[in-house]
Formats: sequence, C-alpha cells, structure tokens
Amino acid sequence: MPKDTLSITDNRTGTTYEVAIANGSIRAMDLRQIKTGADDFGLMTYDPAFMNTASCRSAITFIDGDQGILRYRGYPIEQLAERSTFVETAYLLIYGELPTAEQLRDWTAQIAAHYTVHENVKKFMDGFHYDAHPMGMLVSTVGALSTFYQDSKSIFDQPSRQHQIYRLLGKMPTVAAYAYRHSRGLPYAYPDPALSYVGNFISMLGQRAGACEPYLPNPVLERALDLLFILHADHEQNCSTNAMRSVGSSHADPFCAVAAATAALYGPLHGGANEEVLKMLRDIQSKERVSDYIKRVKAGEMRLMGFGHRVYKNYDPRARIIRQAAHSVLEVTGSSPLLDIALELERIALADDYFITHKLYPNVDFYSGVIYQAMGFPVTMFPVLFAIARTAGWLAQWQELLLDKEQKIARPRQIYVGPAERAYVPMEKRGGV
Ligand code: ACO
Repeated sequence: MPKDTLSITDNRTGTTYEVAIANGSIRAMDLRQIKTGADDFGLMTYDPAFMNTASCRSAITFIDGDQGILRYRGYPIEQLAERSTFVETAYLLIYGELPTAEQLRDWTAQIAAHYTVHENVKKFMDGFHYDAHPMGMLVSTVGALSTFYQDSKSIFDQPSRQHQIYRLLGKMPTVAAYAYRHSRGLPYAYPDPALSYVGNFISMLGQRAGACEPYLPNPVLERALDLLFILHADHEQNCSTNAMRSVGSSHADPFCAVAAATAALYGPLHGGANEEVLKMLRDIQSKERVSDYIKRVKAGEMRLMGFGHRVYKNYDPRARIIRQAAHSVLEVTGSSPLLDIALELERIALADDYFITHKLYPNVDFYSGVIYQAMGFPVTMFPVLFAIARTAGWLAQWQELLLDKEQKIARPRQIYVGPAERAYVPMEKRGGV
C-alpha cells in the first residue's frame, strides 16, 4: 500500500476508502465518494472560519507560526525589512523575483506615472460627509475607479492586468491622502512623481494649503513608514486576501476586488486592532499601573490588545522589527509615554505564566499604532495605511488566482439546518393583526 494515503473506514457502511495525501493535506473532493447509498450526496467537511482548510496553493508568502517565521517569496522578512523598499517588495510579491536595477527603475516610474487620479474623483470625494471615516471613503472610491477604467475588465489580458497593477499601486496612496485631507477640511494636494512612493504619500498629507514648495518628509519617518509598508505588504490567506480572491474568482475587475478586500480590512478584528492597542495604552495611563492591568487581563476582564495571533504562537517577527523602528521614530518625534507603557506591558507579560502557557506574544499591531500616532496620523488613518501596503499582496494573490488552472469561482457548501419543505401560508391564516 502506498504510504502517502489515508485509509478511511465509514462505520455507517463498513466500506474503506483510500485517499491521497499531498502537501500534508487531503482533497476535500476525495471525500465526496464516501456515500451511504446512490442517493447520498457524499461526505463534506464542515469548517466555519476556514480553521483547517487550504483554499489555494500559493508561492507568495510562507508563515511558520510556531517558529515565528515570515517570508515573502522565500526571502526572510527581516532581510527585506533591512535592505528592501516597499516598491521593490511589491515587485517581488507580484512577480516572484527581486527586480534587476533596470526593472526596478521601470517599475518605480510606471507606478509613479499613475499617481494622479481623474479630476472627477475629487468631485466624487467632495460628496462625502465632513466627518466620513477615511476607510469608508477609500472603499467606495477604489470601487468607483472601476468605472473610470473599464479596460480593467480584461483580466485575462496580461498587458491590461499589468496596467491595472500600476494604476492600483499608484492611486491607492493618492485616494488615501485625499480621504485624509477631506476629513480635515483641507484642499487636495496633487501627487509628485519625483518623490519616492512613501515620500510622495507623506507629502500629499502634509502639503500646506497654497504653499508652492513641496512638503518634504523627514527621511527617518519616510523610512519608518516604508518599513511598515513592507511588513504589512502580505500575510497569505488572511480575511481581506480571502475577500480579494473570493471576489476575484467571479472575474470582477481588480478595482472592485480591491474595494472588497479593503472593506474586509476595515473590520476591527482585522485592520483595526492597532487602534485598540492605542486605546488600551491610554487607559493604562502610566507604567506603574501595568501590573494591575495584567492582573485584570488574567482575571478574564479584558484581552491584552496587540497580543496573541491565530497563526503565530511565538513572537510575531514583524513586531520585533517594528519595536526597533519605534525607537528611531521617537528620536525624531520626541519620546512617547505610550511606548514606555507598551515596553513595560511586554516585559511583564512575557515573564508571566499565563502568557507563556497560552503562547501569547506581541503581534504586528502592538507597536505599529504607537509609531503611527507619534508620526501624527489620526487613528482613523491606521487601517488606511494598512490598505495601501496590503494592496501589493492583494494584487499578487489576485494574479496568482487568475493564473491557477485549479481555481474556479469560490463557492462554499453549506449544511442546511432550516425547515423542511412546507406549504405557503396565506396572510389570513398567519395570525397576528
Ligand atoms: N489577552 C489575553 N488572553 C488572550 C489573548 C489576549 N490578547 N488572546 C488570546 N487569549 C487567550 C484566550 O482567552 C484563550 O484562553 P483560554 O484557552 O484559557 O480560554 C486562549 O488565549 C486562546 O484564545 P483564542 O481567542 O481562541 O485565540 P484565537 O487564535 O482565536 O485568537 C486573536 C487570536 C483574535 C488575535 C486573539 O489573540 C486576540 O483577541 N488578540 C487581541 C487582539 C489583537 O491583537 N488582534 C490583532 C491580531 S494581528 C492582525 O490581525 C493584523
């Protein structure tokens, strides 16, 4: 008998089946042959929240949650954080290899050439209420871009797909900056293709109304934001990436699919956790109150926000990098009492039996909010920053999906638990008034 198989005996019928094992998994469709009779649909798996179901084979991002390892296309995140840029990392994610110098020049120039958005986009964004959340504006405006670029429907045409990738990477920071400026009542600032990707984004946020000179970001802060973008660029099949793939699988254009992914990221369980960390640090107020707070967490009164992860049961490698970056940012922006509280929380929690036995370590969100806040971003912009960076990963995953011959429209099964067939009840027989 071959070794890479699973023998399953159906105790309802006594029949034994052989199912192939490949890559540590079995194919769910192989279970369909397991039936009690000709009328039986066949066995399904039930897996709410995809706790143990792989929906694709992917060559983009590797995570080993027990070891605390994250790699993009095989490259350790630590090396990319130290030596790459977000734009180069986006190329790596989308095309699978690091670019040559010429490829990087061309890639950077093509993205910069697509920074601007149609003037009508500004009119469209003007319609948002003065206190609209920038993430809501981003979701709707990216979706609306689909109406400006109708050629984006040609998703199986490689040059067209390439064009949409340039457009989306180029325009996400512009729409994000416009959303920020709208929420502040500021005039929109045009992008400057002469600046770096992140430099241009910061410039569009900070440009003073009526100023002729471009707003030039502090290089330390520019590098820190670039680093944060690298760390957030992809994280395999998370909630928003799953949304991107699911919508993409219906062959919707990539603007609609990115709008859906951005909407998924908007949720507090996904892109909003660093805001919660900031609230928690403010609630704690001082280093001296940290021990009491930890006691309350252990008593089950609340969770330690920014700790724990569905996949990482070790220190999130991104948190380690961000922790170091926080210090260089605060050297420029001035010290933050919130970072002192965060460091004390981490010190006490990592030595505490509860956190050790539950394998709870700081995750990516534990320090990122502190940095964003020190850089002057309002908390409503935190998920927007995440969305700009994650667009690279979403596009890489979308392209991989479209080129994967095994993929079809995503359509899960269900276990129906509602009423059996019954006859329609006329209104006069339903009771009530
Ligand atoms: N503080 C205290 N206890 C915790 C925490 C925490 N942050 N996280 C998990 N636990 C405990 C749970 O109470 C549970 O304990 P028990 O087994 O004694 O009942 C155990 O650890 C397992 O918790 P689950 O909720 O089952 O773990 P799950 O993998 O479903 O949740 C999650 C992961 C949602 C990230 C969780 O750790 C959490 O809520 N963390 C705080 C929020 C947060 O930081 N989210 C950002 C995640 S990173 C990202 O999305 C980009």
